[in-house]
Amino acid sequence: MKMLCSLAVVASLISLPALAATPAAQLDNKPAFIAGLIKKMTLEEKIGQLRLISIGTEMPQPRILQEIAAGRIGGTFNTVTPSENRPLQDAAVKHSRLGIPIFFAYDIVHGHRTVFPISLAQASSWDMDAIALGARTSAIEASADGIDMTFAPMVDISRDPRWGRTSEGFGEDPHLVSEIAKVTVRGFQGTSAANRDSLMASVKHFALYGAVEGGRDYNTVDMSPMRMYQDYLPPYRAAIDAGAGGVMVALNSINGVPATSNTWLMHDLLRKDWGFKGVTVSDHGAITELVRHGVAQDNREAARLAIKAGIDMSMHDALYLQELPGLIKSGAVSIREIDNAVREVLGAKYDMGLFHDPYRRIGVAANDPADVNAESRLHRAAARQVARASMVLLENRNQTLPLKKSGTIALVGPLADSQLDILGSWSAAGVARQAITLRQGLRDVAGDKVRVIYARGANITNDERIVEYLNYLDTDNPEIIQDKRSPADMIAEAVKVAEEADVIVAAVGESRGMSHESSSRTRLDIPASQRALLEALKATGKPLVLVLMNGRPLELTWEQAHADAVLETWFSGTEGGHAIADVLFGDYNPSGKLPVSFPRSVGQIPTYYNRLRVGRPFVEGKPGNYTSQYFEEKNGPLYPFGYGLSYTDFDVSPITLSAPAMARKGKLDASVTVRNTGARDGETVLQLYIHDEAASVVRPEKELKDFRKVALKAGESRTVRFTLDEDDLKFFNARLQHVAEAGQFAVQIGLDSENVQQAVFELR
Ligand code: BGC
Repeated sequence: MKMLCSLAVVASLISLPALAATPAAQLDNKPAFIAGLIKKMTLEEKIGQLRLISIGTEMPQPRILQEIAAGRIGGTFNTVTPSENRPLQDAAVKHSRLGIPIFFAYDIVHGHRTVFPISLAQASSWDMDAIALGARTSAIEASADGIDMTFAPMVDISRDPRWGRTSEGFGEDPHLVSEIAKVTVRGFQGTSAANRDSLMASVKHFALYGAVEGGRDYNTVDMSPMRMYQDYLPPYRAAIDAGAGGVMVALNSINGVPATSNTWLMHDLLRKDWGFKGVTVSDHGAITELVRHGVAQDNREAARLAIKAGIDMSMHDALYLQELPGLIKSGAVSIREIDNAVREVLGAKYDMGLFHDPYRRIGVAANDPADVNAESRLHRAAARQVARASMVLLENRNQTLPLKKSGTIALVGPLADSQLDILGSWSAAGVARQAITLRQGLRDVAGDKVRVIYARGANITNDERIVEYLNYLDTDNPEIIQDKRSPADMIAEAVKVAEEADVIVAAVGESRGMSHESSSRTRLDIPASQRALLEALKATGKPLVLVLMNGRPLELTWEQAHADAVLETWFSGTEGGHAIADVLFGDYNPSGKLPVSFPRSVGQIPTYYNRLRVGRPFVEGKPGNYTSQYFEEKNGPLYPFGYGLSYTDFDVSPITLSAPAMARKGKLDASVTVRNTGARDGETVLQLYIHDEAASVVRPEKELKDFRKVALKAGESRTVRFTLDEDDLKFFNARLQHVAEAGQFAVQIGLDSENVQQAVFELR
């Protein structure tokens, strides 16, 4: 019976309509092909192409099929299997008048079936090969599920950890995030977005979404042009230069104009200055929100503003469909404006290879996986490799870590055995039951000489209001399930377990929903329920190892002072538990470095390292009035950008420059010798910063310009040479020209942004 069904489907595929059977020769010339197609389209069909709908939330399935067949939908998102997508594509290709294929998109942010560590974690690896592996693997898995486009990478610079979406981005630094933007785009798209195993990358959220005021999601962004150009725009540009086929436009306003209606942003900057040739999509419902922003009086005006500003596709609202016909009729919007948008949508479909074969990623039903979640479809080894490289060792007193593979370990904490949380937010088609928790990971990696005894010890939080908020999205499948025992009972059990053990491993931090879209926080501490647990564990006098799971920098002053070791594991994905155990037992020597500064307190935010210089800087160790500082506590970050320990030690020599000066268009080498002075093999990240001594505008204290991850055997040393050129010294001046100004510069090389060697040179 099953065989008959499959054959029937195959047979039906043979009778493809006119367009799907377009001879290859006609497809050779993309502009001519698309222009020809646009000529054949009615206005309604054109407007239909501009509509991107969410499956499962907007309308029932039969209606979707009708709408697609009527040519009123250009693309969909949120389906994750070939068998879901095939009937939708059939409706477009076989039943719509022109047979124009639709495309399928999804938020594949850090994995698809196999969930890799969250983006912020991946950034902590500073390992471009590892990050590329994550993106490539995600593309292979998602394309095999019939998906054509991902709404990623998310490259919003974020310097305010109160913002829940800090977890989705790659941190605070323009250079690091730009490098990652390039490798992720290339990873998703492969050699061509048309490849069967590629996804088109749609970089988001254009632009400046990470700078929302107070870290409050969806809020206002008000920023000087210099800061925009210097710090926040480069990663989007890097993604576009790397060939990203799509751009998702942000929900926030920028200096008073919402991104969605921002002509400067989309026409002048994106298309004219940057030469972007792909498709722009609005974010979820953003066109409707123009009314709430108060820049459009009604839906009609919202649609007019968005199309004129350059939004090609409207996501999850029907405003283009409803309003564009009337706007055309009244002359408020021209056919040329509609055609421009349609051209980009069809162009993206062309670039995804869908005109050549609308089923190129969906395949034939006979080949559909019997079980989409089959183990054989996962890429566990890759996920474990990337997860290990993503962890940052923050503290390690008295060599508490690595743990011995013998004795008794007390494993406690609400995150020690949570399959859902370890996946992190935006876990795509990942399935919690396939995730390895720390509890499972310890069991698998420890060997039979280790006894692991477990107690949950605390709930994520005892604050029912917060639990309710976090469970609000899906009340049928609550994310947070409270242990009904009293906090005191849970702690007592954990203390008992700890007293029997040689060492305590406590997995604490945030539930995954706490670091998510719409999860802004006013406090960054570990919730009180868990802190009480940690205090009780500390009182046992046993060595206390903290395994942190969280999606943003936390405030860790208590933990820094009291824990013997602290390992930042973020949300480490499907293989997280194994990867953490690998690090805890020393099977992998941690090599991650923070891509974002950790503040001492919420009051000190922002604490990003590349801050502008001031006239009255605070000088550590020289307290006094009238300098830029807070007087009640120590100033500066608790853990600086670029920081991270290893089980071995590294030493960096003074810098040798190839010359005392660099000529314009010339080059200068800066070399250091890095030595592994400890007893274990390990990897570290050499970071190169530039400090501009004096310029026509205020320049940052320092800026990352290059980095190199270096593996060294115990005792080994290596000379590492960085080559600088004029571009490394450029910045945006007061007229927004990208210039390098002659004068003195310092080059700094070190293992984090604060501990550096320095040498001075001149640009002539
Ligand atoms: C988010 C986007 C996401 C979109 C589609 C929005 O709420 O801001 O990042 O791509 O939903 O899921």
